[in-house]
Amino acid sequence: MVTGGAGFIGSHLAERLQAEGREVKVVDNLASGEQRLKFLEASGIEVDRVDIRHPACTEIIEKFRPDEIYHLAAQMDVRRSVQDPVYDADVNVLGTLRVLEAAAKVDARVIAASSGGCIYGEAPVEMLPLDERSLRNPDSPYGITKAVMEDYLRFYRSNQGLDYVALALGNVYGPRQDPFGEAGVVAIFGRRLIDRRPCVIFGDGEQTRDFCYVADVVDAFVAAAERGAGELFNIGTAIETSVNELYWAIAGICEVDSPPRYEPARPGELQRSCLDSGKAKRLLGWTPSTDMDAGLRATVEFIRGRGE
Ligand SMILES: NC(=O)c1ccc[n+]([C@@H]2O[C@H](COP(=O)([O-])OP(=O)(O)OC[C@H]3O[C@@H](n4cnc5c(N)ncnc54)[C@H](O)[C@@H]3O)[C@@H](O)[C@H]2O)c1
Repeated sequence: MVTGGAGFIGSHLAERLQAEGREVKVVDNLASGEQRLKFLEASGIEVDRVDIRHPACTEIIEKFRPDEIYHLAAQMDVRRSVQDPVYDADVNVLGTLRVLEAAAKVDARVIAASSGGCIYGEAPVEMLPLDERSLRNPDSPYGITKAVMEDYLRFYRSNQGLDYVALALGNVYGPRQDPFGEAGVVAIFGRRLIDRRPCVIFGDGEQTRDFCYVADVVDAFVAAAERGAGELFNIGTAIETSVNELYWAIAGICEVDSPPRYEPARPGELQRSCLDSGKAKRLLGWTPSTDMDAGLRATVEFIRGRGE
């Protein structure tokens, strides 16, 4: 079962599992996934339009009895979490608890999506890239709810024997991403540069992120079905890319040579973020394999309507 399976990452994951011959069910309330339904329908994947907070979700889990629940459904917009922390916690904490309760009952492994950028927050530069022993220092309600999710996973493991793996993802990019959210910057720049519209960078553009291609992230979820029980893994490339570098890389692919427009930095935005995934390599056998140029080209092709 893939919660949030109509989402950007979840739809790729559901398709991969189906292609590997697994019986897949998607649970998604379509809070943001509507436009991706066509991909799931084309693959013949069954979608239950259900909210993870609703008892109907529990019933589906108890009836379907999945071996694994890939838990990706979330309120994942950092800015929305700041404006409405109650909604954020309702979905990301209470919704998650419903899923964990049901998973424990049917002995399903939960492979949960956390956020590497948001649970660690701004760390001292000399600590980068951050490994899993780094201090958690979430600086948004979204980061807090993702950090709390991991505490609950551990609690359910010790209290009810829940089998879980948590993946702290870097900034995921690739085809099908909404042009908003945590790493929507690739989708936003891509769309605007293809349309020859100006792009805005908030701050000086020297803020960095760890951009990880969606197919590599899907590989990590698949690897976590078999290994890594009870552990948190960072899933990133350990490569810092500044927003300026990203802009010029996409501009080059789109054959645009005009510079971006700069506006004042947004308060509270992370300056630097980069993840050490050595633990995932050792215990999951996972490493990212897509270089950024190839990933960006595939993303731009998709936005142009040529991909997939
Ligand atoms: N995209 C990234 O860069 C990134 C980085 C770190 C972590 N993550 C995490 O990975 C997961 C997937 O992210 P994504 O980028 O695919 O996001 P997304 O918004 O595309 O997908 C989330 C899906 O969850 C669904 N959903 C939201 N609330 C729901 C609810 N109450 N009940 C049922 N379904 C609900 C949405 O409709 C959507 O289809 C999320 O948990 C997110 O926090 C993403």
